[in-house]
Amino acid sequence: MGTRIKSVKAREILSTSGYPTLETVVTLEDGTSGIVSVPYGTSAGKHEAITLVDGDPKRYKGKGMLKARDNVNNVIGPKVAGADAFDQRALDEKLVSLDPSPQRANLGGNAILSVSLAVARAAAASRGVPLYKHIREVYDLKYSNYILPKPMVVVIEGGRHADNSTDLQEYLVGVIKDSGARENVRKAIEVYLTLGKILKEKGYSTNVGTEGAYAPTAIASNEEPLAHIEKAMKDAGYEPGEDVAIAMDPAASEFYGDDGKYHLKRDGKVLSSQEMIAYYQDLVSRYAIFSIEDGLSEDDWDAWPKLNEALGSKIIVMGDDLTVTNVERLKMAIDRKAINAILIKPNQCGTLSETVAAIQLAQSNGLRTVVSHRGGGETTDTFIIDLATATSSDFVKVGPTRGERVVKYNRLMEIADELGR
Ligand code: PGA
Ligand code: ZN
Repeated sequence: MGTRIKSVKAREILSTSGYPTLETVVTLEDGTSGIVSVPYGTSAGKHEAITLVDGDPKRYKGKGMLKARDNVNNVIGPKVAGADAFDQRALDEKLVSLDPSPQRANLGGNAILSVSLAVARAAAASRGVPLYKHIREVYDLKYSNYILPKPMVVVIEGGRHADNSTDLQEYLVGVIKDSGARENVRKAIEVYLTLGKILKEKGYSTNVGTEGAYAPTAIASNEEPLAHIEKAMKDAGYEPGEDVAIAMDPAASEFYGDDGKYHLKRDGKVLSSQEMIAYYQDLVSRYAIFSIEDGLSEDDWDAWPKLNEALGSKIIVMGDDLTVTNVERLKMAIDRKAINAILIKPNQCGTLSETVAAIQLAQSNGLRTVVSHRGGGETTDTFIIDLATATSSDFVKVGPTRGERVVKYNRLMEIADELGR
């Protein structure tokens, strides 16, 4: 028996989008406490846990979070007071039992997650251990050592993350040769900075989108960023495909039409699922691409195995909106051989235990795991970095600038220092 939960208190704070989100403080009977703030997505998948907002048009255009706040303070808090903060699994089971609806629509995934994560942070503080160590021990995760996740840095963004940029949502630089967390971060960021110079020389704007990556409005095609990123890698002194390589998150659900076709407006193309797969095959044959996330729509189940069959032996074929950090959807994806990697976002499912269960299921089936920030309503919380470290995840996906992003890379480097890496 560890320390018991004394009180739980949530408040509405601002997220990076300007709209509110939740911050929750859990205080334990020994006086220690844990505080977290939870994010939400801009291009959230249809099957994710619900981010409960007020719907009151007089406050924050309907996106206030007072209902979710009150759910924490008046419903969840009293029910978990007195619970053992060190028994995270039991705590999360309790949270799920308070709202068993599949998408947590009653209490809100945001309300539930904020309590789940704040308890973990409070318990780590009470034990006097770093959060990543606490998570590893609480779930009895068996890894021989700490292998820090490598950065996957968003460098160009479009889709719903920026106005008038590419249809494809994200172009990223992944560090594929591990030289230690600090060096890995440096390399990826140097490519980002070099890319800025290249875009400027081309006459493009280097203003940034919601994830802190460039969002060049005049870019001519969805393919063009790939050439600029490869050049930036070379100009920065790194070999594309060896030190660093390109990852893409098209977030294809966002341009999948009711007609069952993929609409690439910037290219003037309307593609079938099969043609979309061929489009990626062509890009992969010509550029140093090592990962494609959400290459197809979240419900295009018939086509996903074909994409994985076509590219899965060469590159990472990853689900995000497809799998939404949900064990049931992940099982479906594994059964159908639809993916070989999963993006992990705790707020997609709603509790730490479910998030860790998804990671464990993925890893035990040989899938890679990439722990990710959210595009829209992010916060300065760094929980995901400790989570990725605890679970030996392969990558963390985070944008390169803006305080809510850099704080995460800074946490990664802090952990590296702590571990003497
Ligand atoms: P989000 O998208 O805006 O929904 O967080 C990020 C992603 O698709 O990975
Ligand atoms: Zn995604």
